[in-house]
Amino acid sequence: MDLAILRVVPFIMLVHMSSIMAEGATLFSELSNSLTVSVTGADNTSPNGTKAGADELLVTWALNSAAQVDDSSYKTVELKLCFGAPSQVDRAWRKTNDILSKDKTCGFKIASPQPYNRAGNTTKWLVGKEIPFAHYFVRAYVLDSAGEKVAYGQSSNAQRTSNLFTIEPISGRHASIDIAAAVFSAFSVISLFGFFFYEKMSKRTSKA
Ligand SMILES: *[C@@H]1O[C@H](CO)[C@@H](O)[C@H](O)[C@H]1NC(C)=O
Ligand SMILES: *[C@@H]1O[C@H](CO)[C@@H](O)[C@H](O)[C@H]1NC(C)=O
Repeated sequence: MDLAILRVVPFIMLVHMSSIMAEGATLFSELSNSLTVSVTGADNTSPNGTKAGADELLVTWALNSAAQVDDSSYKTVELKLCFGAPSQVDRAWRKTNDILSKDKTCGFKIASPQPYNRAGNTTKWLVGKEIPFAHYFVRAYVLDSAGEKVAYGQSSNAQRTSNLFTIEPISGRHASIDIAAAVFSAFSVISLFGFFFYEKMSKRTSKA
């Protein structure tokens, strides 16, 4: 084998590895906790029991005045709906990872991104129909002009156990309508195949 290749291979591997590290190097623990975030239901009620597909959440964020940070690099804010610790137990697909690109805590986007300003903003979010029942909190990520996360704030504590709220799935009539629709479409697929085979079979028997 050509020795030049052997010399180049480790170099290529190094470049490759460092590009992986560059992508995944942003750790949650490196972000500055400099925003305050709060969540209520519509009309400032408790967000507990907010109905997926029907109710709204009011999310308010601002720069924490007690946080002595240089916010000159703060450009946009991304709001996310995140799973509280009790709703992550035994669910690997919701697992928290300090490596942000691998973190599954915050699966749902809320009206984002929006411009950053110190005074903050309030966003009304109609909870999506696809949101499952769980205990949630809201996290706001601050991104810089390169789109990298640099800071955050959340409506729960660091352990993701306090101040959680529940979202109720589409229930009752809506759920049964959805189930009926699913059963009906499964039935029509099956009957389509049924007719198809029936036709094939009857053609074959008529030929015989
Ligand atoms: C507040 O957020 C809305 C979107 O939710 C955005 O359209 C508006 O420009 C924001 N206001 C300020 C002052 O940033
Ligand atoms: C929601 O209800 C649970 C108990 O059912 C309570 O522990 C929690 O504090 C409530 N959250 C909010 C934001 O009201």
